Amino acid sequence: MTDVLILAAGLGTRMKSQRAKVLHELGGSPLVAHVLRAAFELAPGAVFTVVGHQANEVEAAVRNEAEREEQTGTGALQVPAFPELKFVHQTEQRGTGHAVMAAREELATRGGLVVILPGDAPLIRAETLRSLVERHEKDGNDGTMLTVEMDDPTGYGRIIKDNEGKFLRIVEQKDGSPKELAVKEVGVSIYCFNTAALIEGLDHLNTDNSQGEYYLTDVPKIMQSQGRRVGLLLHSDAQEVAGINTRIELADLERKLRERKLRELMLAGVTIVDPATTYIHRQVEIGQDTIIHPQVIIEGATRIGSGCTVQSWTRMKNVEIGDNVTIKNSSVIEDSVIRDGASIGPFARLRAGAEIAEKAAIGNFVEVKKSKVGKGTKASHLTYLGNATLGERVNIGAGTVTCNYDGVRKSETIIEDDVKIGSDTMLVAPVRVGRGSKTAAGSVVTKDVPPDSLVAGVPAVVKKKLK
Ligand code: UD1
Ligand code: CA
Repeated sequence: MTDVLILAAGLGTRMKSQRAKVLHELGGSPLVAHVLRAAFELAPGAVFTVVGHQANEVEAAVRNEAEREEQTGTGALQVPAFPELKFVHQTEQRGTGHAVMAAREELATRGGLVVILPGDAPLIRAETLRSLVERHEKDGNDGTMLTVEMDDPTGYGRIIKDNEGKFLRIVEQKDGSPKELAVKEVGVSIYCFNTAALIEGLDHLNTDNSQGEYYLTDVPKIMQSQGRRVGLLLHSDAQEVAGINTRIELADLERKLRERKLRELMLAGVTIVDPATTYIHRQVEIGQDTIIHPQVIIEGATRIGSGCTVQSWTRMKNVEIGDNVTIKNSSVIEDSVIRDGASIGPFARLRAGAEIAEKAAIGNFVEVKKSKVGKGTKASHLTYLGNATLGERVNIGAGTVTCNYDGVRKSETIIEDDVKIGSDTMLVAPVRVGRGSKTAAGSVVTKDVPPDSLVAGVPAVVKKKLK
């Protein structure tokens, strides 16, 4: 049985942030979520996460991602049972070895193997972890480390070998002699250990180094001195296993991840007019022959059908879009549903559960909040629709407002099929406009309108003094 242990308790001083490093986002999800996904693909028995800095937030991020993975079932997970999620608290951060020591009790109850991953290496692929475990088992090792050669190894632990090329120890940046620091092969905090041997090794760790920390990197050396077998697996892709320590590295990997996503979409038949200015998060799905114009941002769990057009300067998050939908320039859309053939924008704002039915049109400077807009209905200019339900073939004149908030409560507006709302109508909710009715321009509608009627006028009179 293989378990996974993720090291995620550190603050990440070099990020210069109030926020724990593993919570910084890459491609729309926290760093630790990326690592977790790779871990799940190993089909482990349990995943332990060592938490410390902002423990609750890190734990929530891990649970969130696990829940998402469980629900969406990306197929990555070929195991019948979902791995057990366990959290280990490292209250004081005294080094990577200390982080694993915090999990000692938990690990002692497990047998088999444990794969250790840093929470800050988000591009790690499951295949790489699998080859690490394979090498570990094939060579009958007690510990196996993933290593990589870096042109600039600054900051990483150097792999020191003897003249015969036999592994001796790992030397950290701050402890190394110039000769040791010239070594280009580095450890990347990714290990496979026999759990029992790891625990024995941990018992011999000390803080005898320039940082006064318990270094996990000392464990292989200790194991060897106990007569155990330690192996290295040299990996070829340095970027995949690189840890993020600064915001510059975060931006570098963001670019890499973004390029990966855009290529995937283009290969699947989506036109991305200008990949250099298009930002599409990892979870987003887009159908064939949809065209994404320059300077578009699409985030969250957004799904876009085929044959759609998304024009420039549009930002969307968690939106479900059917086929042949047009989103015109500069629209901002969140948590909404837009069905086949609808047209949105330019300059439209949809949010909080807006639902736009087939062939409906939402035009310039129209805000739709928590409202349903029926088939073929149009609201083309300067309108607010909040807590409203609109039937089919309704026309909303320019400047219409559903007055849904009296300062205390939100109330509903219902507009039935084939209604024509005249320009600048105020619909004072709760109110219902019956099927086939019309309101004249400038009406203030405070009472329900029966079907097939024309209403006009302003009933605004002083009812009582407020003070
Ligand atoms: C570590 C390694 C270094 C390796 C590099 C690869 C050690 C001593 N050094 O250095 O050899 O080349 O990773 O990326 O192991 N963490 C805790 N608790 C702590 C300290 C760290 O949970 O007390 C976690 C961090 O949250 C992070 C991971 O361990 O996710 C690595 O810590 P970091 O401080 O980034 O280690 P490096 O200095 O990069
Ligand atoms: Ca690091």
